[in-house]
Amino acid sequence: MDELRIKSVKATMEHYRQIFEDYMNSTREDRKKDVHDKLFEAMEYSLAAGGKRLRPMLCLAAAERCGCAVEDALPLALGIEMFHTGTLIHDDLPCMDNDDMRRGKPSNHKMFGETIAVLAGDALMSYAVEYPLWNTKNTDPAKLLGAIKIFSTAIGPDGVCSGQVFDMDYDATCDIPGYVRKIAALKTGALIKASIASGAALGTEDKNTLSCYSEYGAHLGSAFQIVDDILDVTSTPEELGKTPGKDAEQGKITHVTVYGLETARKMAKEESDMAVQAISSILPKDDFLCNLAEYLVYRSY
Ligand code: IPE
Ligand code: IPE
Ligand code: MG
Ligand code: MG
Ligand code: MG
Repeated sequence: MDELRIKSVKATMEHYRQIFEDYMNSTREDRKKDVHDKLFEAMEYSLAAGGKRLRPMLCLAAAERCGCAVEDALPLALGIEMFHTGTLIHDDLPCMDNDDMRRGKPSNHKMFGETIAVLAGDALMSYAVEYPLWNTKNTDPAKLLGAIKIFSTAIGPDGVCSGQVFDMDYDATCDIPGYVRKIAALKTGALIKASIASGAALGTEDKNTLSCYSEYGAHLGSAFQIVDDILDVTSTPEELGKTPGKDAEQGKITHVTVYGLETARKMAKEESDMAVQAISSILPKDDFLCNLAEYLVYRSY
């Protein structure tokens, strides 16, 4: 990827990230409502801790490309980031991946204890759907319903939740290569795919467009998890903001353990190419989303 394209993709990521952060900060007081002080503190601790904000970025970019104003997609983008943050809080618990660090800070349970961390995760995950339903304005209710259907299906029992169970509790008799792909598609791919497809659904009901974005998101999600598996082996705590080496320590099946680093890198590139291919009929090839798919393969955090 040449310097110019890297610069352009980074600038657009920063543009969406900034809009998202401004919205998140400006709605903080409204979001507090009557939420228990300690619970809200724990929810906000992890939400505000940072992170790449990839999922809200995808939601906003797709909405904008499908005719929905960016500001009208912000409540959904925030709901998506709330859900993602909730899954990270739970993922770090001692009963799951047992990680003491997240987004460069002590994990939620290290700060607030396991009980509050479980409840902060629960609260973020249910607020994730409640918040966009109450706060999305200027949007055709049928399109909002379409978007929420996509989002809520991805985060439900046969989406992210099953993915996390497959990840935690694998069946040693299964077809391992197929299994590792299934874990990635569900625990990570489902939400990434829904982030982009639900954003698109706020703007359009056109089946072909929605299916192109869904396919893009599914491949991007797989590429993203393959790189996450790679970075667990190759990166540092400073760069990642979480503890590397966790997958080996926990005996996880990952793209690296199954295929090795070199093949895993090739697979990430293949998935990214397939993502670009999926939107090639609806977006120009120099569109931000095409560049983003390529850029994410080379990310270092
Ligand atoms: C981490 O996601 C968990 C996975 C699904 C791999 P991110 O790498 O997007 O985490 P943040 O949001 O930047 O912290
Ligand atoms: C987490 O996957 C996926 C979800 C939180 C749904 P990982 O366990 O690989 O994520 P990290 O590496 O801890 O961020
Ligand atoms: Mg995990
Ligand atoms: Mg983990
Ligand atoms: Mg990981």
